Amino acid sequence: MARRVFIFDTTLRDGEQSPGVSLNVREKMEIALQLAALNVDVIEAGFPIASPGDFAAVREIAREVRGPVIAALARANREDIDRAWEALREAERPRIHTFIATSDIHMKYKLKKTREEVLEQAVAAVKYARQYTPDVEFSAEDASRSELDFLCKVIEAAIEAGATVINIPDTVGYAIPSEFGEFITRIRERVKNIDRVILSVHCHNDLGLAVANSLAAVQSGAQQVECAVNGLGERAGNAALEEIVMGLYTRRSYYDCETAIKYDEIYRTSKMVSSLTGIPVQPNKAIVGKNAFLHESGIHQDGVLKERQTYEIMNPQLIGLSQTNLVLGKHSGRHALRERLAELGYILKDDELERAFVRFKNLADRKKEITDLDLEAIVKNEIKIAPELYQLSYLHISSGTTVVPTATVGLRRNGGTLEDAACGDGPVDAAFKAVDKIVGIQDLSLTEYSLSAITGGKDALGEVVVRVDYRGRTFVGRGVSTDIIESSVKAYLNAINKVIHEYGEDAVFRGGGEPQEEQEK
Ligand code: KIV
Ligand code: ZN
Repeated sequence: MARRVFIFDTTLRDGEQSPGVSLNVREKMEIALQLAALNVDVIEAGFPIASPGDFAAVREIAREVRGPVIAALARANREDIDRAWEALREAERPRIHTFIATSDIHMKYKLKKTREEVLEQAVAAVKYARQYTPDVEFSAEDASRSELDFLCKVIEAAIEAGATVINIPDTVGYAIPSEFGEFITRIRERVKNIDRVILSVHCHNDLGLAVANSLAAVQSGAQQVECAVNGLGERAGNAALEEIVMGLYTRRSYYDCETAIKYDEIYRTSKMVSSLTGIPVQPNKAIVGKNAFLHESGIHQDGVLKERQTYEIMNPQLIGLSQTNLVLGKHSGRHALRERLAELGYILKDDELERAFVRFKNLADRKKEITDLDLEAIVKNEIKIAPELYQLSYLHISSGTTVVPTATVGLRRNGGTLEDAACGDGPVDAAFKAVDKIVGIQDLSLTEYSLSAITGGKDALGEVVVRVDYRGRTFVGRGVSTDIIESSVKAYLNAINKVIHEYGEDAVFRGGGEPQEEQEK
């Protein structure tokens, strides 16, 4: 019988540590619910001591998400563990994940502790965490660069102290597959009580080997893999969940392992994470990249038409990627739209469907073919996670090679329309300046802007992602339209609305105040 491998998802913890990612509590909750639909075994919901926002997100997820184990990270000290437990206590299946570094370089320079002190602290932390919950994971940070004898001693002691999962991180992505597989084998041989726990690995992608290292570890007997959707995570990221899962599935006759993942939720999860984090998926990314199942050369197309398996080792439908590309036209009605969206996994409320339908008709007037990607862009734009205080009403641009770019922008707010105009270095800059004049938030600055075409052709939908900084925090905004200035203004307003939602109107417009969601109830 195939051996079970547990999927521990750390998108909301290590993934959220990706440069430029900053999710609010609602966005984390959306992702956690989708991870539960994907049927991961463990959701690492955050690092509660790190910030009040992290704490609030872990607590909400622990309260509401049922099915997977909910884990929270804590350094190996009482304060972190108390905070983790406080956030986790209402979870159906809580896990405290505590860690301390075991490599000489980390102990000497970062912790300034001796081996004996680290061993003692690890044991004390595990015992302390066990007072709260029977499910305690211990990670030996930088394990792959730790001296094996010492590492084994710490692991053995952590198990004696009550750890139920032992995690071996390749924290800096230094390992290579054959070596890491061997490392896991040696740990299994030397640690005499290792059979009492689940042995886990957590690989980073600094050399592009995170997935290969994780799979090598599975081959050597690791039972849990820590990974993140789209490979998000510190620096070059963590092992990509979708690659681990599909690697184990596609090569099941080789690995003889199985996961509990619902494969047909993979694509949707990847899309949601990319959309909420604002980190695009590279087109040639394995499994979920937009080119992953496209065949460009004539020979390949011919082969696939004759027999799909000539050039496809996975069926795209398995991961929830619809094969229908041309779907609806301008004569399609609400019912057809609702049906098609449901097939794509979007169940819209009536008011959301109504707004999506208006946008669909609008687009169908301007665009010949409405594809699944177009529809996804439309719904993502309509399912708003932050309430929209400001909405774009109209936009006039005057631009060209001989005129100063000028924008006149009208914004709806509480039933009324506010208008202003501004000049800028280009049409987007002018439009943003006009928005700034209307909204008037102090301390807000644009830090990043990116534009990409979601669909192909001259009438493609353009997606703009912006990042703004407000009092040291990053907010991501998205906007989609066939007109790139319109997408830009929508993205900018989306980010502004998130700032206002997070801090509250009083704080944003009169200064002072803390983020609303981050205050404890
Ligand atoms: O990379 C790492 O070592 C970690 C641990 C906290 C598990 O993220
Ligand atoms: Zn990590």
